[in-house]
Amino acid sequence: MKIYDEDDANIRLVAGKKVAVIGYGSQGRGHVLNLRDSGVQDLIVALKEGSVTAKKCAADDIEVRSVAEATAWADFIVVLAPDEVQKDIYKDHIEPYLSAGKTLAFAHGLTVHFGLIEPRDDVDVVLIAPKGPGHQLRALYEAGKGLPSLIAVHQNATGKATDLALSYAAALGSGRAGIMETTFREECETDLFGEQAVLCGGVVDLIRAGFETLTEAGYAKEMAYIETLHEVKLIVDLIYEGGISNMNYSISNTAEYGGYKTGPRLVTDETRAEMKRVLKDVQEGKFVRDWMLECQAGQPNFHAKRQIDAEHPIEEVGKRLRERMPMLIQGKKLVDRERH
Ligand SMILES: NC(=O)c1ccc[n+]([C@@H]2O[C@H](COP(=O)([O-])OP(=O)(O)OC[C@H]3O[C@@H](n4cnc5c(N)ncnc54)[C@H](OP(=O)(O)O)[C@@H]3O)[C@@H](O)[C@H]2O)c1
Repeated sequence: MKIYDEDDANIRLVAGKKVAVIGYGSQGRGHVLNLRDSGVQDLIVALKEGSVTAKKCAADDIEVRSVAEATAWADFIVVLAPDEVQKDIYKDHIEPYLSAGKTLAFAHGLTVHFGLIEPRDDVDVVLIAPKGPGHQLRALYEAGKGLPSLIAVHQNATGKATDLALSYAAALGSGRAGIMETTFREECETDLFGEQAVLCGGVVDLIRAGFETLTEAGYAKEMAYIETLHEVKLIVDLIYEGGISNMNYSISNTAEYGGYKTGPRLVTDETRAEMKRVLKDVQEGKFVRDWMLECQAGQPNFHAKRQIDAEHPIEEVGKRLRERMPMLIQGKKLVDRERH
């Protein structure tokens, strides 16, 4: 896999373009503020009429226009609205105003890879996907560091698509950490699988199941919270920093032995077979079709599940403990929920 550094990129390429970023949410704000600090001067945000995020742009002194106006104006258009609305935005507000030689950029390959958006073939279509939330992209940039990004090219109409994607990624600060070259397919399918099987599905259900096992057995909710949720970060930090063997080096031999004995009792051959089925659903587009149908219906199951999870006892006890013991959370908070 090709990995680029800051020295491989020419930030002036993107700094010389008129850049429009559609959406000012998690990714949008991080991208725009980092681009501005990297010297991109012709920079605007596009939002839908009446958008609640417009006031965040005003607070950050960022000009806002409609998506149609921004598309007509810009050379480089970055689509950072939620995946589920991108198809309609593209059809109604981008496609009619797009002209040859422009660049269309995404932070996730879903809508292009699964054919929800089929851009005209005389524009560049690129991916610049920071590997983390926009808040972290911004915080690391401000600290003089960077979040790694993936780049990919779906269409190279101008012959300069890779250089432009590299330039944009470097302007986000990702050159400081590493810019990895991939494809839309690989980014999209590994990202969907990873978040479902491990990061957001697997880990979260494992935490809740552990919490429920302890509390149903009569242990204090506070103890269950500390053991099954709070300490996840301490363990993940060690893994993140130096791999699984680094974590094993740091924990007790008893914890390490217990992990070896019990991990395979939970992640069984059946779990692995289910993971393969999850990956197949992603690869064959079943997951994306289901998600788009859920969105067309107004996301009833999505909102119901969000509500049920928000009312789980692990949320209540966690909130109470974090308020009672603020030092439980060390370091800077990544998400300021007032701002986003
Ligand atoms: N969040 C992450 O960690 C992450 C990481 C890597 C890649 N990505 C990708 O980045 C993209 C954006 O995700 P996100 O999480 O940043 O989204 P988000 O936080 O939900 O923000 C979406 C933004 O788009 C705006 N928007 C919604 N509908 C719009 C419309 N019809 N026209 C114009 N703007 C509209 C929203 O404004 P309103 O508030 O007015 O609705 C908001 O400013 C997605 O492709 C996602 O897969 C996200």
